[in-house]
Amino acid sequence: MDSLALYIHWPFCLAKCPYCDFNSHVRDKIPETRFAAALRRELAHEAARIGPRRLTSIFFGGGTPSLLSPENVAALIEDAKTLFTADRNMEITLEANPTSIEAGRFAGYAGAGVNRVSIGIQSFDDDALKFLGREHSAAQAVAALELGRKIFPRLSFDLIYARPGQAERAWRAELATALSLAADHLSLYQLTIEQGTKFATLYARGAFRLPDEDLAAALYDATADAAAKFGLAQYEISNYAVRGSESRHNLAYWRYQDYAGIGPGAHGRLTFGETLLATSRHRAPEIWADMVESTGTGATVEDTISPRDQAREALLMGLRLAEGISLPRFEARTGTKLPDAIDPAILSQCVEEGYLTLTDSILATTPEGRKRLDAILPELVL
Ligand SMILES: C[S@@+](CC[C@H](N)C(=O)[O-])C[C@H]1O[C@@H](n2cnc3c(N)ncnc32)[C@H](O)[C@@H]1O
Ligand code: SF4
Repeated sequence: MDSLALYIHWPFCLAKCPYCDFNSHVRDKIPETRFAAALRRELAHEAARIGPRRLTSIFFGGGTPSLLSPENVAALIEDAKTLFTADRNMEITLEANPTSIEAGRFAGYAGAGVNRVSIGIQSFDDDALKFLGREHSAAQAVAALELGRKIFPRLSFDLIYARPGQAERAWRAELATALSLAADHLSLYQLTIEQGTKFATLYARGAFRLPDEDLAAALYDATADAAAKFGLAQYEISNYAVRGSESRHNLAYWRYQDYAGIGPGAHGRLTFGETLLATSRHRAPEIWADMVESTGTGATVEDTISPRDQAREALLMGLRLAEGISLPRFEARTGTKLPDAIDPAILSQCVEEGYLTLTDSILATTPEGRKRLDAILPELVL
């Protein structure tokens, strides 16, 4: 039976962080009952057309899914298990924010079947948390991590580095704290200024500056170096794990496998026979809910992805991974041979300069190549 990863989007947050361009919204009163029911309805609708699949992962992302009650999380998990065939090792992740109220729900989520939590810590420095507009303190972050580690078999947390004024020494110290609290997985992101965010306005006005390219590169190297010493390998540009503890759900994206996306703004990639379909949902929460209530789904445009675009997408995703791209898998999935999808001259140059490696069966980036991936990809991929 073909495998499937399932993404469920919860679109609400207590406050909008100034750096964030995720589909997240603040409401005076979160309409939980309505949205949980709409998610269940859209899941059933999507499952009916997808048909039988072996479900390898469920990921509750957001927004802040830890604002959803354990009862509703349990109902969605039970639905998914009934509608699909649960894999024996099904990974069920929930993104959580470390405020005390939400941390108190951890036991409920574990009881609902969540076996992995991903906590948005962002920083262990109170001033940085304030700058990032976070609703929690460093002490609350540590408490949430300690509680989470007791309750969940697997735990990851997110940090944002390369912040304004952050020196390498300060980041190394923060990283040491992070590693001392880490379980089996970490997501460490460089701060990026996303269009349309509050930070984009402030940055354009010159209200703060970001580390220059050299410092950002040094911070990135320091990150990989410290994590490796702690036994967490960089398996994707921003993701570090103990071997075997990589996020199975995110690996499905990067390996360009099928996934369904439920909820406002969620995307999917679904194979139907010979066709690979790109699915998307209306981004506005209330419009999405209206659509689900009247038709069973908030789906918007659905496009068939051409073989050329499939090859392109598979390369953009796969080259983020240290394991690289399996060429037999790439060809079977996209129907395209690698030489037809990349520029041979750029490939040779990147191999010569130590940014890419190519064997009979694998194309991969080296650590140096991953650092420059944004510059390499537009040149390499046809
Ligand atoms: C959907 S959010 C996480 C969920 C949760 N609401 C939270 O904030 O903790 C996913 C992660 O992306 C990262 N992120 C979001 N915007 C970012 C940006 N502009 N630069 C760097 N990292 C960012 C943050 O680390 C965040 O935890
Ligand atoms: S970073 Fe998380 S909490 Fe902040 S606005 Fe984005 S999704 Fe919401």
